Amino acid sequence: MLLPMSTLMRTVTLPGGETVPALGLGTWQLGESARSRRAEVDAVRYALEIGYRLIDTAEMYGDGGAEEVVGEALARGPIRREAVFLVSKVYPHNASRKGMIAACERSLKRLRTGHLDLYLLHWRGSVPLAETVDTFERLREQGKIRHWGVSNLDVGDLAELWSVDDGERCAANQVYYSASQRGIEYDLLPWQRQFGVPAMAYCPIDQGALAGNASLHAIARARSATAAQVALAWVLRHPDVIAIPKAVQQAHLRDNFAAASLELTAAELAQIDAAFPPPVRKRPLAMN
Ligand SMILES: NC(=O)c1ccc[n+]([C@@H]2O[C@H](COP(=O)([O-])OP(=O)(O)OC[C@H]3O[C@@H](n4cnc5c(N)ncnc54)[C@H](OP(=O)(O)O)[C@@H]3O)[C@@H](O)[C@H]2O)c1
Repeated sequence: MLLPMSTLMRTVTLPGGETVPALGLGTWQLGESARSRRAEVDAVRYALEIGYRLIDTAEMYGDGGAEEVVGEALARGPIRREAVFLVSKVYPHNASRKGMIAACERSLKRLRTGHLDLYLLHWRGSVPLAETVDTFERLREQGKIRHWGVSNLDVGDLAELWSVDDGERCAANQVYYSASQRGIEYDLLPWQRQFGVPAMAYCPIDQGALAGNASLHAIARARSATAAQVALAWVLRHPDVIAIPKAVQQAHLRDNFAAASLELTAAELAQIDAAFPPPVRKRPLAMN
């Protein structure tokens, strides 16, 4: 018997007041081969069964294949699509007035849904931000998307976004953030906090590498946890950061979900600072 989501998962508040789960499921590298399709659909269904209610995907992943995997998992149930906060991303080269309307339709079709909960510009390209924002707003007015946001934008780009009409309606910025990539703490995270824009942390366990980190292991052992869980709990220590670890293995999916209720002590955070020093100057935005 599954407990209602609210009793299981912390939430993060979007601008406007809506709350979303602090931990969701990433889907990069899903949908790349027909051979693994069934296992991947089962993995997403399993994630939903154990309580995941936010899924991050993109038209880029598996060339649409990841969206299809998510769409099939939602269609097969038992968790209804309406219970899930669905995030997808548009390629920069599709983020134009004409291109994005069509790209969004394709994503909706693959995901077998009438709307996205959050639609992100995957990274900044050559289409002017004003045109992209205007098109996001049109899609929002048409009910095709509920919120829009960006990804891989640093402070300068966000400041520019804020200078275009409706740019401040941006609901989130998805960026690389993990114990070993903590440059955003210096300036981006404070900037976003000032404007009430949550961060979505991608690669929160460094594509699995932090699961093998000795310092995190040492902390984890004393808490009967895993190093990956400590890496995720560390990202989730901020009230305005959403983590979207990707996993297909059931044990990973369970561990990661449980990590949202692990609270690190001040002494443990200091140990992590010693292993992964916080930034003391501006760093270029990490990307993957
Ligand atoms: N906006 C962007 O530009 C951008 C860029 C990169 C990623 N993303 C998004 O962020 C998501 C997460 O990033 P990511 O997939 O690159 O990296 P990640 O979530 O840091 O790591 C995923 C890898 O870690 C393994 N793993 C997961 N949980 C584990 C655990 N508890 N113990 C040990 N290993 C574990 C997974 O293995 P298994 O799969 O075998 O379980 C997988 O190989 C992506 O899937 C995507 O949705 C966005």
